Amino acid sequence: MRVFITGGAGFIGSHLCDALLKDGHKVSILDNISTGSRANIAHIKDEIEIHQGDIRDAALVEKIMAPADLVLHMAAALGVNTILENPIESVSTNFTGSEVVLNAATKLNKRIIIASTSEIYGKNPNQPLNEESDRVVGAPQKIRWTYSDAKALEEAIAHALFLTKQLKVTTVRLFNTVGPRQTGRYGMVVPRFIQSAIKNEPITIYGDGTQSRVFCHVQDAVKAILTIAKTDSTIGQVYNIGGVGETTIKQLADKIIERTKSTSTITYTPYEDAYPSTFEDMQRRVPDITKIKNSIGWAPANTLDNIIDDVALEMKK
Ligand SMILES: NC(=O)c1ccc[n+]([C@@H]2O[C@H](COP(=O)([O-])OP(=O)(O)OC[C@H]3O[C@@H](n4cnc5c(N)ncnc54)[C@H](O)[C@@H]3O)[C@@H](O)[C@H]2O)c1
Repeated sequence: MRVFITGGAGFIGSHLCDALLKDGHKVSILDNISTGSRANIAHIKDEIEIHQGDIRDAALVEKIMAPADLVLHMAAALGVNTILENPIESVSTNFTGSEVVLNAATKLNKRIIIASTSEIYGKNPNQPLNEESDRVVGAPQKIRWTYSDAKALEEAIAHALFLTKQLKVTTVRLFNTVGPRQTGRYGMVVPRFIQSAIKNEPITIYGDGTQSRVFCHVQDAVKAILTIAKTDSTIGQVYNIGGVGETTIKQLADKIIERTKSTSTITYTPYEDAYPSTFEDMQRRVPDITKIKNSIGWAPANTLDNIIDDVALEMKK
């Protein structure tokens, strides 16, 4: 099979490349190397076809997509810092860019999986979140929600193309996905904490640390995405992909200190000091993964301990 991955030099995209190559598939990627990096794909640079460019370039997208059997649309502008600092560029990539990719897949009649996000659910307090849960988002002036809004519109366009043009699309909503190669530069909490722990520097928690998340190992997420891609009954469906075991951010910091045998201390920065007024956080974000379990028999195999160990090992290299 020939697989076209947008955002293939990114964190999840590069792990998808690895898994597909291992299974003997051919891979081509399109990436503008913004939040992704050439280092993520350095080890496979001679085995994949690399195109540096933008997903908003429709002619380029169609050209690379034409020979593909499967499209995995992973490119996006993400991370709290990216979104707050470059909101217009983020919306443009996440909505306009996705529309370009979806239109090309419709025109060329391709099977496509698109990466959406748990941000779709916003600050819905009714946890765990299943695929039918409501979107509860704040005012547009709170720039953070523009990521959720752009991804929601992307999902809506994808679903409309499925209904009206028979686009063979499946949407996956990824919850906090972590693992080796994820950078802490754009605000991701696990790599940021582990980086500090390894250097025995203070770990800074934004807020009071009682906010919780559920983390999923990238290897588990990759397995879910590739199984979905092989399963035609998933066409037209939306699936949560997430881990199990809710952890507060304070517990996460404690666990990271313990597992990395660090002497780091924990410090707290109020949200108001950590972020501009255009930010607001949600207290919990817990996935209900019943639908994907029932549909393709997937469940995450890794624990938070595995995740921390794998990330720490890679960072120490
Ligand atoms: N990591 C997570 O926890 C998480 C959670 C929810 C959803 N997702 C989604 O999963 C997908 C992959 O995320 P990731 O964690 O690997 O992030 P990432 O930032 O590592 O990957 C995104 C990739 O897209 C590329 N890109 C950005 N704008 C582009 C453009 N205009 N044209 C071409 N390439 C562009 C970046 O350079 C990067 O390589 C994204 O769609 C993201 O929204 C990730």
